[in-house]
Amino acid sequence: MVAGAAMLAPESASAVDWAKVPEKNITLFYPAQISWDRLFTPGRHSGQRRWPEKTCVGCHGDIDEGPLGDSLVDGEKDKEPAPIAGKPPFVKAKVKTAHENDTLFVRIEFDPGKQPNVKMDKDFETKVTMILDDGGVKDSKNAGCWITCHSDVESMRWSVAGTTKYLTDTRIPKSGGDIIKSEEELAKMRAAGYFLEYWQARINPGKPAVAVDGTILEKRSTHETPAVKVSATVTKGVYTVIMSRKLDAGPGYKKIVPDKKYTVGFAIHAGHTSQRFHYVSFERSLMLDGIEGVADLLAPASGGGAAR
Ligand code: HEC
Repeated sequence: MVAGAAMLAPESASAVDWAKVPEKNITLFYPAQISWDRLFTPGRHSGQRRWPEKTCVGCHGDIDEGPLGDSLVDGEKDKEPAPIAGKPPFVKAKVKTAHENDTLFVRIEFDPGKQPNVKMDKDFETKVTMILDDGGVKDSKNAGCWITCHSDVESMRWSVAGTTKYLTDTRIPKSGGDIIKSEEELAKMRAAGYFLEYWQARINPGKPAVAVDGTILEKRSTHETPAVKVSATVTKGVYTVIMSRKLDAGPGYKKIVPDKKYTVGFAIHAGHTSQRFHYVSFERSLMLDGIEGVADLLAPASGGGAAR
């Protein structure tokens, strides 16, 4: 690296020349109460028979997001018991990823359309989230965020107050309510890399965005001091959100290294929504200096040398 390069403020979004970075169109749709459990309840979802040989994105990707949103935003009562009047059914995003100075940058641009203000989240108008896995969680590469979404998560069909996203293997199934595995077992799982990481930008247009990050194992946990940095601008209704963090952000974070495929999924909470009232994507792959056809998001080196 050139001596002066460090002066470019590696975390700052301006370190990346976005015009040179390939763009991926990803449509996020309103999923109502279609949880992981529901998708795998016999008879509920014809996709279950061929999964995981065929992945979610393999069947639905870039085709069904719009129609799924259309049907679910005001779906039947057993799918959407609390529809939001006037809620747009899906949001189209343009996603770019790049790395520079040992930092991964993710840029998400979208126009959420006319969003009714439902006042669920009084503090933030919009939240943009990415879930990241490095292969530590079996199934995530075939299903992305869906594996964290269960019917007993608060605001879902069998809502249990205080239950956040979690991974199925952290539970011991028991009729009348699953049991969460012991602290010791959970610590072993975490040490083996069995957790997902998430990055979030909390946004009020015109104000600096707030970064939150953390992990999902038996519950969603937030790091006290986020390693992730975020920025957001809104111009003529178009939101441009940039999230970044060091490729190696230390314990509690996935190490991002060359020649490895990662899985990411995106969510957007628009119109002061919280909990399940968001838009979600199917799973996508990400690779540093990735090659077209091998990964969806290629994260090239912007300006500088490759990471390898
Ligand atoms: C083999 C193809 C296939 C795969 C793989 C597949 N699906 Fe589906 N999915 C379908 C079809 C077909 C439907 C239409 C309704 C039905 O037949 O169940 C559907 C319906 C849905 C719906 C709407 C459900 C409803 O009740 O309205 C959602 C949401 C969905 N799929 C998500 C997923 C997710 C998430 C995955 C990955 C875990 C996935 N699908 C995997 C074929 C597939």
